[in-house]
Amino acid sequence: MTMPKPIATPAPSTVIAPSLLSADFARLGEEVRAVLGAGADWIHFDVMDNHYVPNLTIGPLVCEAIRPHVAGHLIDVHLMVEPVDALVPLFAKAGAGLISFHPEASRHIDRSLGLIREQGCQAGLALNPASPLNWLDHTMDRLDLILLMSVNPGFGGQTFIPHTLQKIRHLRQRIHQYHADTGRWIRLEVDGGIHPANIADIAAAGADTFVAGSAIFGQPDYRAVIAAMRQQIAGVR
Ligand code: DX5
Ligand code: ZN
Repeated sequence: MTMPKPIATPAPSTVIAPSLLSADFARLGEEVRAVLGAGADWIHFDVMDNHYVPNLTIGPLVCEAIRPHVAGHLIDVHLMVEPVDALVPLFAKAGAGLISFHPEASRHIDRSLGLIREQGCQAGLALNPASPLNWLDHTMDRLDLILLMSVNPGFGGQTFIPHTLQKIRHLRQRIHQYHADTGRWIRLEVDGGIHPANIADIAAAGADTFVAGSAIFGQPDYRAVIAAMRQQIAGVR
């Protein structure tokens, strides 16, 4: 029996996805509008449960609350929760466009990935700094995005772990091979410790989707930081 070929997809454009974790939570709608108005592409939405990671953040109610403020931009939900599946339909209903989770946090990874797509969202797998790329061996057909953590998950404002660059390079090769085999592209997102001074190296290693929290929300002029990031990326493309 031959497997159906995945549908070909266009090469991913550069995406800057500010993480709300470092936004002013008392003015979240305003922050979302400001950062998108300043040139961001997606909103990165970090969900922590004080179980899979040692911190507690926001859930589907907050996702629903920011939905009217995103004006068609994608809400990129990063689940750092265990277990995963029960939250998937809640976030899909609350406006998530893409949902990523950590493989260690799901008992049945293929089932969780299927569930995300059944709910009408794009699906992503998030790999911690010490999690091997082997998690991708039997999951690529189910994935729209692979999220490489460049810090240990749980907190904003940490320092980029340098060995992530080599991992990004390996993953870029793997995604190219997958594209050569199937015609389908998968996004390569990097999350943690990204700022204008290191984003060129991260882009040169092969990332196309960049999450940044403190580097953007920690500055008064969001437009200037995002423009500086894009300029750095353009310099290595
Ligand atoms: C960490 C989160 C990241 C983080 C990024 O667990 O997944 O999205 O908030 O924040 P910065 O850019 O400050 O490292
Ligand atoms: Zn994140």
